Amino acid sequence: MSRLGGKVALVTGGAAGIGRAIVERFVAEGASVVVGDIDEDGLASLASERVAVSRCDVTSEADQAALVRLAGDRFGGLDIGVANAGVGWATKVLDHELSDWQRVIDISLTGVFLTYKHAGRAITVRGGGSLVAMASLNAVQAGRGMAAYCAAKGGVKMLTEVTALELGEAGVRVNAIAPGLVRTTLTDPMWLMPGLVDQHLDNAPLGRWSEPSEIAGVVAFLVSDDASFITGTLQLIDGGCHLNRYPNLFASIPGAAGEPKEHTT
Ligand SMILES: NC(=O)c1ccc[n+]([C@@H]2O[C@H](COP(=O)([O-])OP(=O)(O)OC[C@H]3O[C@@H](n4cnc5c(N)ncnc54)[C@H](O)[C@@H]3O)[C@@H](O)[C@H]2O)c1
Repeated sequence: MSRLGGKVALVTGGAAGIGRAIVERFVAEGASVVVGDIDEDGLASLASERVAVSRCDVTSEADQAALVRLAGDRFGGLDIGVANAGVGWATKVLDHELSDWQRVIDISLTGVFLTYKHAGRAITVRGGGSLVAMASLNAVQAGRGMAAYCAAKGGVKMLTEVTALELGEAGVRVNAIAPGLVRTTLTDPMWLMPGLVDQHLDNAPLGRWSEPSEIAGVVAFLVSDDASFITGTLQLIDGGCHLNRYPNLFASIPGAAGEPKEHTT
């Protein structure tokens, strides 16, 4: 496969999970890839002639700018940027600590903004290309206990639309991806909550969760010339789960589904 032959791509959060599958797929399709992550061991295991790695916390503008510079230094420029890094948090709104809220928004939304800004500038200089951000089914489907995550991912959807409007004339296509349940380190805890995965499967027209490679394949399509007329979209990859109601995160935790606690402030 050489659909991405000669292209240079940047992927954040690429040391594990979906991001790592995207890096592997891009390399298999011929691209050179710059990978940023806070997991230095994971990064080291990816480094090769066509994969340059660098510690990058996506909440740091300096780190994101340095990652883009690395693409220029190692591979001569940038054609593709994938803002993949993201984290979640499960707490009801009335119990949510501000610091936890801010952490999710900083990584999962502000991190995407910084990738769009710095990778977008470099891609524009090159004369065009493609940006993709990792949103979620939770960008369009609310889940109890997922306020910060849903707000961040809904924000990624709108940020993507605005960026697509602004960069279209520069030849940059901008799209977001909305996976449903994918088995990764992020979602491993869901398998420990009795009944939660069963709720997901009951909720899923295809009756299963997905593997990271199934998300990576769609990202590779979206950044390729095969998707040359697609911009400003949110691509659902959820086995049809958007057709149903999001499972109740708290139905599986004894005592958690009851009335909200009493709050004094
Ligand atoms: N797994 C799912 O079911 C699912 C569903 C919908 C959306 N997503 C989204 O897909 C993306 C990837 O999720 P995943 O399931 O592969 O998660 P994961 O936890 O397996 O991998 C996330 C990667 O991001 C890195 N990371 C975390 N914080 C970072 C930071 N501040 N700066 C740089 N890197 C950081 C981690 O070190 C890790 O390598 C996330 O944005 C997530 O919200 C996942």
